[in-house]
Amino acid sequence: MARSQWGSRLGFILAAAGSAIGLGAIWKFPYVAATNGGGAFLFIYLGICLTLGLVLMLGEMAVGRAAHAGAVGAFRKLAGGGWPVIGYMGVLVCFLILSFYSVVGGWTIAYIGKSFDGSIMTADAKALGGIFSSFISHPLEPVVYHGVFAALTLGVVIGGVQQGIEKLSKWMMPALFLLMLALIVRVLTLPGAMEGLLYFVTPDFSKVSGAMLVDALGLAFFSLSLGLGIMVTYGSYVGKESNLVSASLWVILLTVATCFLAGLMVLPAVFAFGFDPAAGPGLTFITMPAVFSHLPMGQLFSALFFCLLLLAALTSSISLLEVVTSFAIDEFGLSRRAAAIGMAAGIFLLGVPASLSLGIWSDALLFGMNFFDLLDYLTSKLLMPLGELLLALFVGWKAWPLVAAELARNEPTHSLLLAMRRFCQFLAPALIGWILVVNI
Ligand code: TRP
Repeated sequence: MARSQWGSRLGFILAAAGSAIGLGAIWKFPYVAATNGGGAFLFIYLGICLTLGLVLMLGEMAVGRAAHAGAVGAFRKLAGGGWPVIGYMGVLVCFLILSFYSVVGGWTIAYIGKSFDGSIMTADAKALGGIFSSFISHPLEPVVYHGVFAALTLGVVIGGVQQGIEKLSKWMMPALFLLMLALIVRVLTLPGAMEGLLYFVTPDFSKVSGAMLVDALGLAFFSLSLGLGIMVTYGSYVGKESNLVSASLWVILLTVATCFLAGLMVLPAVFAFGFDPAAGPGLTFITMPAVFSHLPMGQLFSALFFCLLLLAALTSSISLLEVVTSFAIDEFGLSRRAAAIGMAAGIFLLGVPASLSLGIWSDALLFGMNFFDLLDYLTSKLLMPLGELLLALFVGWKAWPLVAAELARNEPTHSLLLAMRRFCQFLAPALIGWILVVNI
């Protein structure tokens, strides 16, 4: 059966970058970097993205293109045996991630509203922190917004308006970049911003710990959409003439650049306004309104910022729902509509306790974590690293001839290929395994 293909090489890169760039870069990266002490974390994160991230993304895309099949099907087709477990893990990861991703996506919708009614137009750290925490701990409001975000994602996936989204992201991503650049200029000229800038870019390697390494590893996988499934599926739609090496390099550079800009935008502002860098998941939502309150037409900029953030989040959430939907279509023979609705309903239901665990259910701890943190931990710090470790072994030991053939098609030299193979066979599993063990 002919599989649909991306319209162009650019279309493929944009779709993959659209999946990667999202809340991970703008919501998650700044607070995780800030809680981990800044500079050293930035360098470790960058190092992981450009080594492990690059090789594993390449591996996923090559597996997808070689097999011409989605997450589970690809491993079944190329190897059979127990290997499809990697694909099942990938589908599970996407399902779990989307449940709390949609909760945070809902926050961005709420903040568009708050931009218009002007309630967040203040630079008072206490007030902004209060607004955020009373919003996310409310038993109903964030759940409703979570539902709206999930419904939007579902609408796109069943309505087949992906093409529209692709066109939209062609201008949305440059717009987001430009807005962030403008905001960075404003932030860096605030008194006290330099301290935050230095905090963000000056590495203090004495702060490196096992917990920080696993944070960096998990965030690298999360922000690059390396949850086993998406890049495999996207790779299966790539024409044989496309160069996977340059495509994955582009996706990684664009994502890492967005993370870096987000850090430059948020962290100096945190220091300039005297917020707490360790404020956690609210950091971007608490800090950015203070910046807007220092801009002419601040409400407009605020609304624009949260709108673009919402769109970036949607292009990511669509990719997540797409993976679980195609899985349900292939494995259970469901129609596209039924599969998407069923999966979205499950994801919504799982997101409800995630949202409530930040408020009325915050005392219900499992393994010392609330449910929201547990989902995050389970995916970023356990399932994704484990899945990627298995993928490295799969590429290096099991499917190498096929993967190498995919990569050799568009040029890489023999010695580069050999280096990549050795990396997948030994270094990548050892590194990921070591970080996982240090964390436990
Ligand atoms: N990378 C996206 C972000 O940073 C989230 C995401 C989309 C994702 N697809 C994924 C994370 C697959 C892990 C796996 O916002």
